[in-house]
Amino acid sequence: MSAKIYYDSDADLGLLKDQKIVFLGYGNQGSAQAQNLRDSGIPNDSILVANREDSYAEDAKSKGFHVEHDFPTAAAQADVLFLLIPDQVQPRVFNEEFAPHLKDSAVIVIASGYNVFYKLLNFKPSQDVVMVAPRMIGSSVRSLYEKGKGFPCFVSVEQDGSGNGLTIALALSKAIGATKAGAIASSAREETAMDLFAEQALWPQIIMLFREAFSILKEAGCSDEALCYEMWMSKEPAEIFERAAEEGFIAQLKHHSTVSQFGQLSGALALNGDATREHFKNILYNQVLNGKFCKEFSKIEADLEKDGPENPLNELYRKSEQSELGQAEKRVRERLSGLL
Ligand code: NAI
Repeated sequence: MSAKIYYDSDADLGLLKDQKIVFLGYGNQGSAQAQNLRDSGIPNDSILVANREDSYAEDAKSKGFHVEHDFPTAAAQADVLFLLIPDQVQPRVFNEEFAPHLKDSAVIVIASGYNVFYKLLNFKPSQDVVMVAPRMIGSSVRSLYEKGKGFPCFVSVEQDGSGNGLTIALALSKAIGATKAGAIASSAREETAMDLFAEQALWPQIIMLFREAFSILKEAGCSDEALCYEMWMSKEPAEIFERAAEEGFIAQLKHHSTVSQFGQLSGALALNGDATREHFKNILYNQVLNGKFCKEFSKIEADLEKDGPENPLNELYRKSEQSELGQAEKRVRERLSGLL
C-alpha cells in the first residue's frame, strides 16, 4: 500500500486570501506553525492567536501577533481554526468555548488524530475538518522552515463539509511549510493507530527488554556504571537510530563490527515473533482501535492534575523507578553528577 504524497506544486496559497486564520494555542506547534504561515506571505492582520492569559500569549504578542483572550470572540471570526492546544484539553475548550460560536463554513485543522478518531469533538456537518500533522516537534517545524527545508507531515480530510477540504488542507500545509518535502496522505485513524500502537505496544516492549537485560547482566556480575553506559548513557542507541533514519534500518549495521553484525542479524532471524505478534495485535485491535484505552484514559484524566500518589502517573513513575535499572541509574547519576 503506497500513500499519495503532496508537494508545493499541488497546493494553492491563493485560497487563503482574505481568510481569517485563528490559532488556538501558541505552544510547541502553534508558535512554529503561526510564524511559518506568516513568513509564507499570509498578512499579520489575517492571523489571530487565541490564547488564555499566560506566558504563551506573551510570547505571541512579543512576536507581533494579534492575541485574543476571549475564546468566543476569536471563534466567531475564524474562517480557519488551527486547534493547537494539548489533546487532553481540546474536547472541553473546543466544544464549550469554540464550537457554539464558529461559522458554519469554518475549517478546523487538527495536528493529531486522537480527538477526531474517537469522536470527542463536536463539528457541524457543513464544516471542513482537516488534519495537518507534522511528524516533528515544533522547534524543528520552525527551524527547518527557516532553513528553507520541509518536514515530514501527514495530511487528510476528515470531514468535507465544503466539498473543497483537500485543496484547503493542501494550501494550509503549504503555508506552514509542510508540502516542501512532501506531505503524506493519511487519516486520523492511521495517525492514531500508529501513535498509540508505538506508545502502548512497541515502546513498553523496549522498556521491558532494557529492564530485563539490565537485571540479567547485573546478575552475571556487571557493574551498574558499566551497564548504564553500555546500554544507553553513551548515547549509542540514539546514534543507531539516527543512522537508521539516514541510511536504512538494516543498512546502518554496516557501521558495526563484523562480530556485531553477525550477532545482531543471526539473532534477530532466529527469534520467533509469533507471541509478540499476537500481543501486538491484541493491543492494536482490543485496546487502541476499539476505543477501550480512550474510554479508560478519560476516566483517570482529571486525576492527572493531582499531586502525590493520587496522581496515577506519579504512581507509575514510582513503581518504574523501583526496578533494578531505575535504582542503579539513580545511584550512578548521583555518583557521576560532575561528569554528566
Ligand atoms: P502545547 O502543550 O505546546 O500547548 C500549549 C498551548 O496550549 C499554549 O498556548 C497554552 O496557552 C495552551 N493551553 C494549555 N492548556 C490550556 C487550557 N487548559 N485551556 C486553554 N489553552 C490551553 O501543545 P503542542 O505540543 O503544541 O500540541 C498541540 C497539538 O499539536 C496537539 O494536538 C498535539 O498532539 C499536536 N502535535 C504536537 C507535536 C509536538 O511537537 N508537541 C508534534 C505533532 C503534533
